[in-house]
Amino acid sequence: MEIIIVDNYQKMSEIGALMIKEQIKKKADSILGLATGGTPIGMYKELIRMHIQDFLDFSNVITFNLDEYVGISRQHPQSYYNFMFENLFNHINIDPKKVYIPNGSEANLQLECKNYEQRITEAGGMDIQILGIGTNGHIGFNEPGSNFHDKTRVVQLSESTLKANSRFFGDISLVPTLAISMGINTILSNSKKIILLAHGSEKAEAVYGMIKGDVCSNNPASLLQLHPNVTVILDVQAARKLDNNKVLKK
Ligand code: F6R
Repeated sequence: MEIIIVDNYQKMSEIGALMIKEQIKKKADSILGLATGGTPIGMYKELIRMHIQDFLDFSNVITFNLDEYVGISRQHPQSYYNFMFENLFNHINIDPKKVYIPNGSEANLQLECKNYEQRITEAGGMDIQILGIGTNGHIGFNEPGSNFHDKTRVVQLSESTLKANSRFFGDISLVPTLAISMGINTILSNSKKIILLAHGSEKAEAVYGMIKGDVCSNNPASLLQLHPNVTVILDVQAARKLDNNKVLKK
């Protein structure tokens, strides 16, 4: 893993966006795997800025999102579908037909998962997959206990994830308990490059386990050690448990 430690959230966001920009410049029809949550919002702002000021062209870009809640409609303000349009897609020139997000309100969820997985494979996988990390080490919604062979599927959200995400819903009882998520296998076997972003001291423990811990399904992010091309961009708080002298600082 390449580890980059920066001073703050803004720098983390800028470096993540720059890597995406370079990818799109190299290949106009790049396939991006995208995440939601608080972490990538700054990076998406930066990509919007690059689109407006530097004419970064998204018209040929294809995107696949990691996950979506089950049981709320796409129009729900907290759906990940809505999140992506509000925070990125409405502000860049992406073709909505090239945007893929699992649909958690499909009647046949198993079929939706199977089709989603198939679409990713048929597209040739992600050139870059963006990830955040949960305080319990989840990536996507692959909670502790998820394994290396998991494909896109319906998952049960853990108590700690429900608690963490209640900040968006106002009350924990309103957070959907199920979601569709790309599996660890989907992520590891279809991503040419993975960029994981983390900021804030509440992520420090999970970040430490991901980088220094044993590879085990109790900390799903540790499975990223098995991928040959992972870059982790951390602010100093998220990196506080690491030996800072041994990693690249920007
Ligand atoms: C979101 C996702 C999750 C988040 C993680 C961190 O699509 O897959 O794994 O990346 O829960 O969330 P934040 O960024 O809100 O701390």
